[in-house]
Amino acid sequence: MKIVNIVGARPQFIKVAPILKAIEGHNRARPDVPIHEVLVHTGQHYDYEMSQVFFDELGLKAPDYHLGVGSGTHGYQTGEMLKRIEEVLLREKPDWVLVYGDTNSTLAGALAAAKLHIRVAHVEAGLRSFNKRMPEEINRILTDHVSDCLFCPTETAVQNLAREGITKGVYLVGDVMYDAVQMYLAAAEDKSQILETLALKPKEYALATVHRAENTDDPERLRNIMMGLKHIAQDGLRVIFPAHPRTRKAISDLSLDISSSNLKVIGPVSYLDMLVLEKNARVILTDSGGVQKEAFFFRVPCVTLREETEWVETVEAGWNVLAGCDPERIAHASLAAQCSASSPYSCSIPFSPRTPLPPATPYGDGRAGARIVMILLECSGRL
Ligand code: UD1
Ligand code: UDP
Repeated sequence: MKIVNIVGARPQFIKVAPILKAIEGHNRARPDVPIHEVLVHTGQHYDYEMSQVFFDELGLKAPDYHLGVGSGTHGYQTGEMLKRIEEVLLREKPDWVLVYGDTNSTLAGALAAAKLHIRVAHVEAGLRSFNKRMPEEINRILTDHVSDCLFCPTETAVQNLAREGITKGVYLVGDVMYDAVQMYLAAAEDKSQILETLALKPKEYALATVHRAENTDDPERLRNIMMGLKHIAQDGLRVIFPAHPRTRKAISDLSLDISSSNLKVIGPVSYLDMLVLEKNARVILTDSGGVQKEAFFFRVPCVTLREETEWVETVEAGWNVLAGCDPERIAHASLAAQCSASSPYSCSIPFSPRTPLPPATPYGDGRAGARIVMILLECSGRL
């Protein structure tokens, strides 16, 4: 069986890692039924700290194809990827194309494969924000509707697909990002020096990330979010902000004054450093999907800088709150999170009481990657 994995953006390097590990494990255990794997990097992310650092740290093989597409408008970027991925697929003739998440690389990979009648498997299928102004929502809906295998991380995702009439080829497997945390946390805690480098003490800082187009491309929203972070810093909690290049550029274009002795803007950090920063944070403020989930995995309260989330389980369990971009609300939510961090039930606004979580989370048991590989083999009649 031959699989082409298509990745291109930061979270996809993390999501593909458990799949590559599961394929390696399968090939060792069953050399009689080998899986030939081809890794394609579209080049959507290209700075060292947005791309290569993940290959180095996670021990990923070098991509078999690097398409070097780079940045551009949605049409340009997706169109270039479509053309270049098609050439790879015509040459490789795989049984399956695996795509991850909801980026332009995901949509281009799915579309190129579907048009060539190559079976598409979507890892992280069924997520919905119900906000079609998000480019990711368009990417997810279209990808799900051309996929043959839909690997859902949560029960909610399965239900979302059913509402759109998709019930065939749908598998609840758990979340590969939960697998990744299980795989790399020990290494992170062993190797990362980030707390020492930034002179941080556990639970004495807030961690913030912002990169969604709705926040970076709207000057008013970005200004308000930065003001919210400044309030938190001025109230005495140190804020560490590893900024996505898109956000750095927007802050600089708007000449936003973010200076505060307690607010530290740094470049994007590596995955191992990020895991350590997340686990030891007192509160996390973010508009990232992956970071919301990782906050939940580590049971660190999260303030989401959006109006809605795809990861509703984190909110329902009381570990995440939607604060949008209002500076007062952001600062209040952060305070509530800090107060409830030490006494979970004493502060009910805006966090609901946190339910004690059983060991098996709504995001699976850390074996999503292995399950996905087994299902692909079964669907191909190889097992
Ligand atoms: C993309 C995904 C988003 C995902 C995010 C993960 C789409 C539509 N969006 O958003 O869903 O959450 O990746 O991080 O696919 N840039 C650099 N260096 C890089 C990469 C980007 O400077 O290595 C800058 C460029 O100015 C670029 C901008 O960031 O124009 C945006 O990059 P792009 O990949 O288009 O979107 P992201 O915001 O990264
Ligand atoms: N991440 C990282 N360094 C950073 C910011 C994020 O390693 O400076 C990791 C984070 O731990 C998570 C993933 O990148 O695993 C999330 O990616 P991102 O926030 O870019 O995208 P999203 O999840 O919103 O699509």
